[in-house]
Amino acid sequence: MNPETIIESVEFLKHKGITAPEVGIVLGTGLGQLLNEITIESEVHYNHIPHFPLATVEFHEGKLVYGTLQGKKVVVMQGRFHLYEGYDFTDITYPIRVMHGLGIQKLLISNAAGAINTSYRKGDLMLLDDHINLQGGSPLAFKNVAAFGERFVDMSTPYDTQMRTSLISLATKHDITLHQGVYASVVGPQLETRAEYRFLKIIGADAVGMSTVPEVIVANHLKLPVVAVSVLTDECDPDNLKPVSVTEIIAVASKAEPKMITLFKELIEVL
Ligand code: HPA
Repeated sequence: MNPETIIESVEFLKHKGITAPEVGIVLGTGLGQLLNEITIESEVHYNHIPHFPLATVEFHEGKLVYGTLQGKKVVVMQGRFHLYEGYDFTDITYPIRVMHGLGIQKLLISNAAGAINTSYRKGDLMLLDDHINLQGGSPLAFKNVAAFGERFVDMSTPYDTQMRTSLISLATKHDITLHQGVYASVVGPQLETRAEYRFLKIIGADAVGMSTVPEVIVANHLKLPVVAVSVLTDECDPDNLKPVSVTEIIAVASKAEPKMITLFKELIEVL
């Protein structure tokens, strides 16, 4: 990877009308309804963007959407790239660098995750206040990372305090349960065993999922303020574990999504 490829992707998107986004949004699995709230000006499929990772067959829906939300220009990733699809760390975080190149000042991330904390219920939301990277690698571990910024990025406050505080008060205002906890990222795509859920709980995780952490690391590398919200889709209690399917995870995610939409919309308004 080199900085010129990012510039080429950015220039292409500017020609497609994605000119001046202020906020970037990543929509997680089962979380697409936010797009209905946006006055759309431009849409570009990932596989048309130069240097974007080549989309897999199941991923043909992936696109960048540009438009206005609550009076602000936003660029939205409808669908993200995952390690479990065979991409590497630089692939899955490439779109974050491109959105930054387009000019976003803030990044809002969503994901579907399993609830490790047994006081959380499925359908609840969790605001990430920290994370544990269990994906066995880093999006900053590549040869010419120095051409993009410093290598040894500070991670003492990975999630933006001001946006977190705003989200917490918005949740209170709307009577939405918003837990605050630690997200552990795994590669997947298999879900976890009971022993793994037990381990995740012992090491201090409140939720587990297969994304987000690499994107947050790159946002910190770019000094781009970021917040992330998990929609909890299943309860990972090792002593009372029921089989869970992806269909069910997606169904719970879309049912809970309106709460996340309320929070993201109002956050964007006050940014
Ligand atoms: N584990 C990992 N990823 C997930 C889960 C889970 O239980 N639920 C939704 N994404």
